[in-house]
Formats: sequence, C-alpha cells, structure tokens
Amino acid sequence: MEQQSRDSLDEDVDYRSAWSLASTHTDLVYEYGRRFPNYRYGSQPFARGDELASRNERVLHLLMLHLYDNKLYTAPIEDLRNVLDVRCGMHGLWARNMADLFPEAQVTGFDQFIPDTEGRENLSFILQSYNDSWILDEITEVHGKLDFVYARGLMAGSQNYPEFYKQCFEHLKPGGYLEETEVVPYCSCDDGVYREDSAVRAVCNLRPALERAMGRDYNLATNMKRLIEEAGFVEVQERIDKVPWSPWPNPATDLKGHESGRIFQRYYESGIQGWILQPCIRHMNMTADQVNDMCEKAINELAQLDEHWYSPCITITARKPFSNTNQT
Ligand SMILES: C[S@@+](CC[C@H](N)C(=O)[O-])C[C@H]1O[C@@H](n2cnc3c(N)ncnc32)[C@H](O)[C@@H]1O
Repeated sequence: MEQQSRDSLDEDVDYRSAWSLASTHTDLVYEYGRRFPNYRYGSQPFARGDELASRNERVLHLLMLHLYDNKLYTAPIEDLRNVLDVRCGMHGLWARNMADLFPEAQVTGFDQFIPDTEGRENLSFILQSYNDSWILDEITEVHGKLDFVYARGLMAGSQNYPEFYKQCFEHLKPGGYLEETEVVPYCSCDDGVYREDSAVRAVCNLRPALERAMGRDYNLATNMKRLIEEAGFVEVQERIDKVPWSPWPNPATDLKGHESGRIFQRYYESGIQGWILQPCIRHMNMTADQVNDMCEKAINELAQLDEHWYSPCITITARKPFSNTNQT
C-alpha cells in the first residue's frame, strides 16, 4: 500500500490561477491506498479522485434526486441567468444537470477537484477552494451577480462557515437564492431496533473527538439555518427528510423510504473509508488497518438489514433581501 505524508497546507498556491483549465485529475497525492487532491492539500480530509470516490459522488447525486422527486432544487427560482454550484464535486453532476435544464443560464461549479472535461457552452468549472475569496469576475462581468447559489455536502470542509455564507450573500444579486442540503452525519434510531454493540454507531461515535482534533464542525446540517439567518438572508425555509441507512422493511407502505435506504447503503459502503481514513490516522492515532477494520464491520453490519438507523437530511432555502432593510 503506497503511503505519502505531507503535513502542512500548501500556502504558496496562486489563487488567481483558479481559471486554469489544467486537469486536476493527475494532480493527486496517494495515501493509505486512497487519493487526495494536491490542490490546497490538507485543507479537506476526504479521499477524492479514485474509482470509489467517483462512485460515492454518483450515488450521492442519485440519492438526492430520489429524495427530492427528481428535482434539482426546491427554491422558488425563475429566470435564471447566473448559477453557482459550490463544491460541485469531481463530476459536477448537479451543475451539468442544471446547465441542461436551463440552457439560457450560465452555470459554474467550483471545487478543489474539478471535472477533467470541458463543459458545454453554458457550463464551466473552476479550481478553487471555497475557503478562499472566490474569484468569479469572469462570470459576473458577463452575466452579472449570481441569482442562485447551490451547495451540497459541505460538512467538515471549513473552519469558518460564517465566512462562507458571507461570500454567498455578497456574490448573490438582491433577491437571489441560496440553497444548501446537508445530511446529519450521525445515525439516529426512533424505534430501538439496533444492536447494542453496533459497529455503525461506533464509527459515528468517533465524530466528537475528530471534530475537536481537527477544529472542524462535521454537523453543519443542524447549524446551517442559524448561520444563514445570521448572514442576513431572509425567507429562510427548512425541509427535513429522514434518510434510512439501509432499506427499511416495508416497501409496500413506504416505497420511498425503502428505496432511499437502499441507495444510502450504497453511499455509505462507497464513502465511509474515504471519509474517516485520513482523519483517524492523523488525529486519533489509529492505523490504517484499524480504520479499515472498523469500516468493514460497519458496512457488513448495515448489510444485515436488521437495524433501523437513519439520518435527517436538511435543506435550507433562503433569499438575499432586495434592500438593506431586509424587506422583500
Ligand atoms: C461530498 S462531495 C459533494 C459533491 C457535490 N456537491 C454533490 O453533492 O454531488 C464534497 C466535495 O467538496 C470538495 N471540497 C472539499 N473541500 C473543499 C474546499 N475547501 N473547496 C472546494 N471544494 C472542496 C471535494 O473535493 C468534494 O468534491
């Protein structure tokens, strides 16, 4: 297993190179058998750029489409001209779908690891970290300020979420919408159907120590409404769905819950090791073998289908006021 360790952030990166069309797909650091983007190395702890991460991102997109009845967004938007997908992922799936749906709009995605194919005319991708000052001049000069900012799966990526929402606010035009979807990264159970010695829960229980060690909030989901309100957004709406972690047993009475559980289980299987491997090795003094063993046990346990774990999936939509006085 090839390993490489680098401990410092790459502070010398020229952020103005964000518009470079160079592919990020070859610029990877191999660690513990997984790949991590070299761009702003160390600033995000999740494996990216390999087949498993690719599968995980595709399954997440499928899960969200299923949960939201094939809708790409819930905000009451119309007449889109300039759309931004923050942390668009290595495939930019949401951004691609939006560019198809709104051929008149310009859709831009940015990520620390961007798709290696050039987009179509109304779609572009930027290599940039959402923790830096966003460089959007080239799109805003042509298309004006943003009218829709979309974000999904941001947890654990930042140590300063208020700054992220401030940037969303600043780059949106008055009346523009922000929408964000986050899954609570902890397993809940309402009916007590789980094992006392659950391996799934043991993995979840690593979270508080990881958060402390990394100085990061894994549970953005339950804080984002407050943070979005504090950033000055109005008409803040919250939607909460339950996502089972494995298919719940009654497809006849709850087909949606059954199917979303089936998809989530695939999401967990393809994701869990890449989410916790580097943080546990670096911050919990665990070995790769110990982490892999924990993940394997949790994945196998979920596959038994004898527990009723679920997570709330939370979506917030919010509007930037038309005036400074927060009026509509
Ligand atoms: C869970 S994936 C979500 C992908 C996509 N939003 C979706 O829902 O399909 C998280 C993405 O955030 C990116 N990422 C993590 N930290 C980042 C940062 N500081 N700036 C930009 N992108 C980041 C990762 O490269 C990864 O593609």
